[in-house]
Amino acid sequence: MALSKNFLWGGATAANQCEGGYNLGGRGLANVDVIPTGVDRKAVSSGKMKMFDFDDNHFYPAKESIDMYHHYIEDIQLLSEMGLKCFRMSISWSRIFPNGDDEIPNEEGLQFYEDIFKELKKNKMEPLVTLTHFDVPMNLVKKYGSWRNRKMISFYTKYVETVLNRYKDYVNYWLTFNEINMLLHSPFVGAGICFEDGENEEQVKYQAAHHQLVASALATKIAHEINPDFKIGCMLAGGNNYPYSCRPEDYYKAIEKDREGYFFIDVQARGYYPNYAKKKLSKMKIIMLSEDEEILKQNTVDFISFSYYSSRVVSTDPNVSEETTGNVYGSIKNPYLKSSEWGWQIDPLGLRNSLNMLCDRYQKPLFIVENGLGAKDEPNENGYVEDDYRIEYIREHIKAFKDAVEVDGVELLGYTTWGIIDLIAASTGEMSKRYGFVYVDLDDEGNGTRKRTKKKSFEWYKKVIASNGEILE
Ligand code: BG6
Repeated sequence: MALSKNFLWGGATAANQCEGGYNLGGRGLANVDVIPTGVDRKAVSSGKMKMFDFDDNHFYPAKESIDMYHHYIEDIQLLSEMGLKCFRMSISWSRIFPNGDDEIPNEEGLQFYEDIFKELKKNKMEPLVTLTHFDVPMNLVKKYGSWRNRKMISFYTKYVETVLNRYKDYVNYWLTFNEINMLLHSPFVGAGICFEDGENEEQVKYQAAHHQLVASALATKIAHEINPDFKIGCMLAGGNNYPYSCRPEDYYKAIEKDREGYFFIDVQARGYYPNYAKKKLSKMKIIMLSEDEEILKQNTVDFISFSYYSSRVVSTDPNVSEETTGNVYGSIKNPYLKSSEWGWQIDPLGLRNSLNMLCDRYQKPLFIVENGLGAKDEPNENGYVEDDYRIEYIREHIKAFKDAVEVDGVELLGYTTWGIIDLIAASTGEMSKRYGFVYVDLDDEGNGTRKRTKKKSFEWYKKVIASNGEILE
């Protein structure tokens, strides 16, 4: 079975990493705006350091970013020229409800996205829309403590109902929360959570997780009521854990570590907390209302989406301690794999492994909504980037997912490469960690013309899409 002719070849972005215009068009401040670059980024992202507004000592790259706010027409035209069939983007919640708890939505924000969707329609691109890609209106963080508070569910569902109704003629594919498991590892990024002194952090995180899971189920319900044909997906920061050795203890640790992510998807895809999760939560005081069980049960997602950059490794042997970085959190270094310049390990077969694991576990269609290589690009004297390293990375991953589809029989809806156009890196805030097939002239300090230039990968991906993945050279 080859890839379906409706396979959604595409590219992915997120509002907070490319849009800019943080204070334009009536937009309110969001958690993602106030995460600075530099030494404090980690502390702020993990909710250990309170940064609820800008200060003069830090640089905040999301404020302007690559300014897609003003460039979206040009950007969509470039993507259309590449032949993209699908464009993954997110809506900035605080552009629609600037304070999160407003009575009425901000019409200017609603119109902004409607214009984008019209442009996508004109260019025959299917939008894949993430309802929240790490963003929470800052007012909800300050006033309610963000997702630790159950009130967030109604603010979120009001926002969801507003945008789904408004864009129902333009969008069919929706994701409720980007990388929902992020909240365990980077709570301010994933859920706007900043810890208070003496708080039981595990409990706060899992309480927030429960609220997001109920909110996600209610969003699915609202979506299906508006249009039963809408396709609603959950989204996991993927990449399975390998045991470092064949010691049974290592294998068990890999199971446990994988469950940290599956925890969320198990609920969103199956509609109930699995036993291992119930055992874990029973040790904490997690408040669940009696109606929650039914909400989760009745409103499971239609498909499972995930990001994949690399696999991970775990070990129970204290002598095996060489670590490396990775998406969301680090891992033991895998001696069999090469790494990117940022230490993320490159493992195309790991993508096929993940697809098979997710397929076996959930028996639902899958969608790879992020994959790509963050690298330092050096434009030549003509401003052209020959990114053969990126082409090679993507090619090997395409081969791997084609094997999963054609040999293993996995049902895969599409593939959107991460950062189709250069944008700000989520982990570091750097611009120099580039993923795009389109180069943007901007540096880590926010200097540059923001001019867009096609890279070598642009023409290559165009051929891949035109041949439905048959031509990969
Ligand atoms: C995922 C996120 O974590 O990985 C994206 O959904 C992010 O927002 C991407 O940009 C790549 O990570 P980074 O840190 O290299 O930008």
